[in-house]
Amino acid sequence: MDELRKRSVVITAALPYAYDDLHLGHIASTHLPPDILYRYLKLKGIQAIQVCASDDFGTPILIAAEKKGEQPREYVARWNRRFKEDLEKLGIVYDVFDRTSSDENVQTVQEFFTRLRANGYIFESEVSQFYCEYDKKFLPDRYVKGKCPYCGAEEQYSDGCENCGRTLQPGQVLEPHCSICGRPPSTRKSQHYFFRLSAFAGKLEEWLKSNGGLQADAKNYVLNWIKDGLQDWDITRDISWGVPVPLPDARDKVFYGWFDNHLCYITAALKAARRTGTAGAEFWNDSTVYHFIGKDIVYHHYLFLPGMRLGDGRFKLPDFIPTRGHLLLMGKKISRSRRWMITVRDFLDIFPPDYLRFYLTRIVPFSQADANFDFKEFADKINNELVANIGNFAHRALSFVETRHGGVVPAPGAAGVDEAAILADVESALAETGDLIGQGHFDRAIKRVLDFSTKCNQYFQRKAPWNNPAEEPTTVFYSCNLVAALATLASPFLPFSSEELWRQLGFDRPIEADGWDAASKLRVESGRKVQARPLFTKVEEKDIARVNVMLG
Ligand code: 2FM
Ligand code: ZN
Repeated sequence: MDELRKRSVVITAALPYAYDDLHLGHIASTHLPPDILYRYLKLKGIQAIQVCASDDFGTPILIAAEKKGEQPREYVARWNRRFKEDLEKLGIVYDVFDRTSSDENVQTVQEFFTRLRANGYIFESEVSQFYCEYDKKFLPDRYVKGKCPYCGAEEQYSDGCENCGRTLQPGQVLEPHCSICGRPPSTRKSQHYFFRLSAFAGKLEEWLKSNGGLQADAKNYVLNWIKDGLQDWDITRDISWGVPVPLPDARDKVFYGWFDNHLCYITAALKAARRTGTAGAEFWNDSTVYHFIGKDIVYHHYLFLPGMRLGDGRFKLPDFIPTRGHLLLMGKKISRSRRWMITVRDFLDIFPPDYLRFYLTRIVPFSQADANFDFKEFADKINNELVANIGNFAHRALSFVETRHGGVVPAPGAAGVDEAAILADVESALAETGDLIGQGHFDRAIKRVLDFSTKCNQYFQRKAPWNNPAEEPTTVFYSCNLVAALATLASPFLPFSSEELWRQLGFDRPIEADGWDAASKLRVESGRKVQARPLFTKVEEKDIARVNVMLG
């Protein structure tokens, strides 16, 4: 954390493809973890920017737009707006939420290509491509379906099998057919551009071994991939939707989506930085850089992305690539095609945003192990931990002020040993929660906040102010201050409920104005007017029944 204090921090979340709604899996691994870190860093007074974008290019998007009879540009613009709305409803607000198809990103991508080419890392080669004689077009990636050569699953896209998770190389898929008309394709030769990823094997290995910020498990298998030999990447496609290749004899070619999408991390971060007055490679290189991802895109982030940055030479490699596992839904893999998923929209129709933030934070570890969203466990955790612990303490303390003191915080007597003990725990809760957040262990961090809340409940119960008139004002005064500390401690995880508590305590300024460390001070003065409103309501059977209907 001290290291971070000297620098600005750039945080990115993997970019969602602009062709389907965000679902709980996106939030668990990719959007919520960075937001917790971002909120915490800001509370610590560290300059942090958080960016994301819609991933607009690529065949899945083009196919989806064609199916709807829409122009791809308008189609992706709609998704971009929808993503922003959904994320904002969850309290996840990016400094810049860009589009990979923005003019600025197109420029970044073309510049990268030109520099990589000048530096000798681009070569041309003729490749055989599927071609549909009926639709009169090349059929890259998702334009062809067929049988998986590994597991035999039917109707898989030619670039990867949803059933067994393998990536397929062009030409590997069995019984290929055009995904538009269903006819078997022919093959045609086409001239493509390749990125010489293999040239970076040595440097990537060195970087992986020397960077202590990368997760050991991911590192190990990425190092094995290097040992097995890195393939050069075909970075162009014969379709119309993408960043145009900036060469006169490649007019009908665009870049492959994975060539352009991660460059939008840089484009968006520099856009955000321009607002702060510094920008360009200098800003990037002076920052600590985090890329939050799910484990299915390790290859792209641990090899391809750093390889491209090394070849370009201007922008530093990531310091951290926090990589989390998949989210299972009721024990089963989330699947768009089988519609075994719950979208953010649908979830928020039933439950408040902090319930999702709380439960996901609680169950998703900082590792590549998968987590499981189980609605029974969700109800238990919300009811026993949010409602019965945090919500209970806050409401008990504040309603005591209302019923016994007309809503006005009383003047305390001298603090005793119990007050000293609980104030010491505020200090250690702040330090330990902060350390755990800094290390990426958000699940353990929120547990620490819950432990603190348990201690607050115990303090109130032990002091029994309803039975102890001499100490009552002191207990009530300290309890109100503990509620304020709890609001700060919980705010990276539960921003809506924390703000609500903060308003109940009568503060006008945002929690962030005080900062993290101020939570150890006694901020709720005697004489302040407070209000008690229940913070959380229980998850009930009928809510879970609605989810079951949703899942069919
Ligand atoms: O796998 C995906 O969902 C991609 N859209 C992620 C892109 S992240 C990138 F930009 F690096
Ligand atoms: Zn398969």
